Amino acid sequence: MRTKIVAGNWKMNKTLAEAKALTNEVLNLCISEVKSAVKVILCVPYPFLQSTTEQCEGTTIAVGAQNCSEHESGAYTGEVSAAMLKSIPVPYVILGHSERRQYFREDGPMLAKKVDRALAHQLTPIFCCGEPLEIREKGTHEALVRQQIQEGLFHLSAEAIGKLIIAYEPVWAIGTGKTASTQQAQDMHAVIRKELAAKYGDKVAQSIPILYGGSVKPDNAKELFSCPDVDGGLVGGASLKARDFVDIIKGA
Ligand code: 13P
Repeated sequence: MRTKIVAGNWKMNKTLAEAKALTNEVLNLCISEVKSAVKVILCVPYPFLQSTTEQCEGTTIAVGAQNCSEHESGAYTGEVSAAMLKSIPVPYVILGHSERRQYFREDGPMLAKKVDRALAHQLTPIFCCGEPLEIREKGTHEALVRQQIQEGLFHLSAEAIGKLIIAYEPVWAIGTGKTASTQQAQDMHAVIRKELAAKYGDKVAQSIPILYGGSVKPDNAKELFSCPDVDGGLVGGASLKARDFVDIIKGA
């Protein structure tokens, strides 16, 4: 039985004061309303990692970053290393989000290095995959997602890949209000799990949480999360409103 996970990805939103207020609101609502054993992760912008970590200390809510460098350390102005995240300590990091792939040209080989850096510092990567609309329309979406998984992760040992969280986020569903149907989500999650099983065996594949992301809202979360291979969600827009985010958590 895999634990359900709901992660919020705040992307590039909020000021420090707003971030503190939102974290507080989420914490209070979770304490009073969330009774089930859902793992909640807040993936906040770098400048808020320290304060969010302090706010969440002693609670069941964990903190994640939205990216890290593929380099260990050195002359990479503006970059943030896995070791820095670990030193806060931040336990999770999103890697390979489609916005990073699209706007910052992050590709398979680079992401494989980022995964290695994160794991070397005992961070749990939330590794994202997902196809753009034109690939879905061409019907090659399963092949592309399998390729993203192979390129980013298949250099890992079975033990290492067992430490990851995977997130399937169809690009056409991100921030568009257009959610994948439960069937579309379940089908792709099953494809990902089958791909993992073919390489690492069924036991490892069954242990890896696969989250769905793309316009997850309070009114569709429960149905999506009830699919057998959907282990929770990676939530963008709706994670910026405490009420909506906590209602999504309750859907898990
Ligand atoms: P939305 O929930 O805003 O569609 O964003 C999804 C996402 O990109 C989470 O990483």
